[in-house]
Amino acid sequence: MMTDNGAAVDLVVRGGTVATERWHGPADIWVSGAVVRAIVDRGTPLPDGSAPRVVDAAGKLVLPGGVDPHCHVGFTSGAFTTLDDYAQATTAAVHGGTTTIVDFAIPRPGGVPLDTARAQRDKASAGFCDSALHACVIEWDDSMPDQLDTLVEEGIVTVKMFTTYRGETMANADTLHRVIKHLGRIGGMAVIHCEANHIVEGAQGDCAAGPGIDPHHHHHSRPEIAETASVAELIAMAESTGAPIYFVHQSTAAAVDLVADARRRGVAAFTESVVHHLVLDETVYDGPDAELYVCCPPLRPRSAVTELQRRVFSGEVSTIGSDHCCYDTAQKRTTDDVRDMPNGLPGVETRLPVFFSEFVIGLGLSLERFVQLTASNPARLNGIYPQKGTISPGSDADLVIWDPTLSREVRIDDLHMATDYTPYEGRVVTGWPVTTIVRGNVVVEDGAFAAGDPIGRHVVAQGPSLALC
Ligand code: URP
Ligand code: ZN
Ligand code: ZN
Repeated sequence: MMTDNGAAVDLVVRGGTVATERWHGPADIWVSGAVVRAIVDRGTPLPDGSAPRVVDAAGKLVLPGGVDPHCHVGFTSGAFTTLDDYAQATTAAVHGGTTTIVDFAIPRPGGVPLDTARAQRDKASAGFCDSALHACVIEWDDSMPDQLDTLVEEGIVTVKMFTTYRGETMANADTLHRVIKHLGRIGGMAVIHCEANHIVEGAQGDCAAGPGIDPHHHHHSRPEIAETASVAELIAMAESTGAPIYFVHQSTAAAVDLVADARRRGVAAFTESVVHHLVLDETVYDGPDAELYVCCPPLRPRSAVTELQRRVFSGEVSTIGSDHCCYDTAQKRTTDDVRDMPNGLPGVETRLPVFFSEFVIGLGLSLERFVQLTASNPARLNGIYPQKGTISPGSDADLVIWDPTLSREVRIDDLHMATDYTPYEGRVVTGWPVTTIVRGNVVVEDGAFAAGDPIGRHVVAQGPSLALC
């Protein structure tokens, strides 16, 4: 009944191949309460008198639960709000093998970042997995230093800012610089969406005056150079202030290379890529459902996708997110003008299976790097490692039993996201989670939802770990 350190073993994951970012091999995992107690040789006898619940992982992988560093829940932008709440978003997350989401607390124009973050944090308990938060600043004022200090003290250590979306979330250069600098002083980190708005608006104007500003021209209305220009400016802000910086959804090799070069100079700068930029390309904008793929930055040419994929292998990409935005087809079809259309794609449930299928099965990415990109590094950079993102004694028992041989066609009817489409409809994906465990609770078992009441908790971050493996 007791392990060597005296805690009861309540749950055993038996007979699987455990994979972390450092190794993979046969092992059993003993869980006590909400945490991992031990990783032991397969078949190690349990302490006398133990009668734990046994999860059979024979023939399967056992991975740390995924950490999605970029997930919008109930997000309002302009006239549109994404359709899921915490219960729905996390139900989808756990069916896709993700056990922690990092959501955004984005104020409406004029809103107070600290109040917005506290209100969003209170929603975590409605979830079926855990969640952390990025706060968001739109405009600097005299209250901002105190607000940022309080956010970091309360365990919300990352702050998102946007260089685009004028009138909604766009921050000006002064705000960006002050927030980056202040966060650097207090142990936080800025998280930036980079597209130079003047270049975007110029390109949008050219599209509107010429070929069109409908979804078929979306990719021309937000050119790659807008991203590159903005990343260069933001790196200069981080470098000149000695502060860390994290770039969300980088979609081009040029942008990633700027970050990698900065890192080589000693800047704590990091790249997040999201699955749709690594898998899909701009040819979808020629198709009949172009609006369903409208996201910012837009999908890029196949040659750019290939270059971005290479940077996943060469180590320049640090994390893989979903940028989950749960709009449905009706919302996407409200207007034909991409400037007024809700942008973003649903993806919290498909992030891990699609990335595993394309990169591990399709391109030979190692299991260790898969875990690092999708769980360990997102946890580190969000200040929640090693509580999240790894399997080691004392870590939360967030575990995914993963069948690497299961091939299934993606169909929205089989998914749990609160929308009526997926950008991956019809794609055959190999590698799916079968059982998901959150802090020792089995929430998905053999593909079926097995949770009772919500168990979600807000995860208090400690400050980003900037030394990646
Ligand atoms: O198109 C996107 N990515 N929409 C969601 C908001 C954002 O920019 O992350
Ligand atoms: Zn963004
Ligand atoms: Zn986003």
